[in-house]
Amino acid sequence: MKSLGCSCTWREHSKNGVWLWAVVVLHVRAFGLIALASMAKPGCEERCGDMEIPYPFGMGDEGCFVEGLDITCNRSVVPPKVLLGKGNLQVLNISLANAEVRVNNTRSLSYSCYNGNRTSGYVTLPENLPYTFSNKTVFTAIGCDTVGYVTDNDSFTSGCVSQCMNRSTVVNGSCNGIGCCETTLPKHKNYLRVSATSLSNYTLSKEYSWCSYAFLAERESYNFRGTDLRLFLSKADLAIVLDWEIRNGSCLSTANSSSIPHVCGENAECFDSERGIGYVCRCIRGYEGNPYLSGGCQGMDSLSLPPPPPFPN
Ligand SMILES: *[C@@H]1O[C@H](CO)[C@@H](O)[C@H](O)[C@H]1NC(C)=O
Ligand SMILES: *[C@@H]1O[C@H](CO)[C@@H](O)[C@H](O)[C@H]1NC(C)=O
Ligand SMILES: *[C@@H]1O[C@H](CO)[C@@H](O)[C@H](O)[C@H]1NC(C)=O
Ligand SMILES: *[C@@H]1O[C@H](CO)[C@@H](O)[C@H](O)[C@H]1NC(C)=O
Ligand SMILES: *[C@@H]1O[C@H](CO)[C@@H](O)[C@H](O)[C@H]1NC(C)=O
Ligand SMILES: *[C@@H]1O[C@H](CO)[C@@H](O)[C@H](O)[C@H]1NC(C)=O
Ligand SMILES: *[C@@H]1O[C@H](CO)[C@@H](O)[C@H](O)[C@H]1NC(C)=O
Ligand SMILES: *[C@@H]1O[C@H](CO)[C@@H](O)[C@H](O)[C@H]1NC(C)=O
Ligand SMILES: *[C@@H]1O[C@H](CO)[C@@H](O)[C@H](O)[C@H]1NC(C)=O
Ligand SMILES: *[C@@H]1O[C@H](CO)[C@@H](O)[C@H](O)[C@H]1NC(C)=O
Ligand SMILES: *[C@@H]1O[C@H](CO)[C@@H](O)[C@H](O)[C@H]1NC(C)=O
Repeated sequence: MKSLGCSCTWREHSKNGVWLWAVVVLHVRAFGLIALASMAKPGCEERCGDMEIPYPFGMGDEGCFVEGLDITCNRSVVPPKVLLGKGNLQVLNISLANAEVRVNNTRSLSYSCYNGNRTSGYVTLPENLPYTFSNKTVFTAIGCDTVGYVTDNDSFTSGCVSQCMNRSTVVNGSCNGIGCCETTLPKHKNYLRVSATSLSNYTLSKEYSWCSYAFLAERESYNFRGTDLRLFLSKADLAIVLDWEIRNGSCLSTANSSSIPHVCGENAECFDSERGIGYVCRCIRGYEGNPYLSGGCQGMDSLSLPPPPPFPN
């Protein structure tokens, strides 16, 4: 019961114990464990619509977020939209444990069709912000006479090819070169452009597939359907995953520095990001919560309930 500020033993307080236990149980039932600890910096706004914005992300005053991880809450739309930085990428999810954000991506879609319809797609992450494409985001192309390309303009070009012998060889859920193909992306990119084109102008497939599509999407959230060959544009509702980090210094440079504040709280460990710039924090084993806040990582033991004390005679 240390969390309630009682330094006494159960025995000494067995009379109050039943009552205290009931209060804890009711509290946990009514508000959930999450509600016991705020994820935002004290004094800062916690929510944008339904979404909780955990520090080092934050809204409003500069002290409420770590440089580069500010969030804009557009409350003039219903429900309110959570936006990355001052930009227009809509945030769907923020994960501290994986150092990821999931954003709604509709702009990476590129297509080209037999009838000449075409458009190009790209995603630009703001260059000065600490976001790059996660390896959970993959490049995907759809079509039965299709070559899809992905490039960052100057250092790499990759892609994949998809062909179908006939309509019946296409299998739902299978993105392996028949109607759908995918390829992984190099790490740490913040700009990607995609395009799709046909190999032989849909000569063999135009009865059932007359467009080629290319896009970026979270591998787990896009599931290919044969029907996407015809109707993909109408359901282009794609999410992509980005990695983020705190760019100010590294674990080592911040550990003993008074000029660069170290952001990891107690019971949290610091991990340098793979790129050598920046770091992330994680609660140590047995603790959960927000590793970027002082007192944010809470012992799982202190949250588990003690057995009810025996009834006093
Ligand atoms: C980043 O470091 C500079 C000093 O180098 C400091 O003034 C600034 O407050 C730091 N920003 C954050 C978010 O820690
Ligand atoms: C909020 O969204 C509305 C409607 O999309 C838009 O007109 C407005 O500029 C947005 N405001 C901000 C601050 O992004
Ligand atoms: C992300 O969003 C999905 C769907 O909205 C939800 O099921 C999932 O639990 C969320 N994950 C996190 C880490 O918030
Ligand atoms: C993503 O954005 C599109 C276009 O603004 C919208 O229609 C769709 O509902 C959004 N998806 C999610 C999951 O918010
Ligand atoms: C192609 O263009 C026509 C006319 O603008 C439009 O009706 C149709 O939806 C477009 N198809 C695709 C796949 O974009
Ligand atoms: C993504 O990168 C992480 C860290 O390097 C690695 O552990 C993970 O296996 C990779 N996942 C995929 C799907 O490549
Ligand atoms: C990439 O190339 C396109 C076309 O040449 C250009 O419009 C765009 O600004 C470039 N983007 C970057 C990030 O270099
Ligand atoms: C489609 O191709 C498969 C494999 O080549 C073949 O077995 C099947 O008979 C073909 N179906 C049609 C309708 O042509
Ligand atoms: C594909 O075929 C159509 C119809 O014959 C033609 O209008 C179009 O120009 C062709 N496209 C290409 C890229 O050859
Ligand atoms: C494939 O998925 C589509 C859309 O979910 C469905 O209509 C179709 O019946 C499925 N086809 C097969 C062979 O399962
Ligand atoms: C940081 O300070 C601790 C204790 O004062 C010391 O043991 C450690 O070597 C220092 N680390 C660096 C990188 O200076």
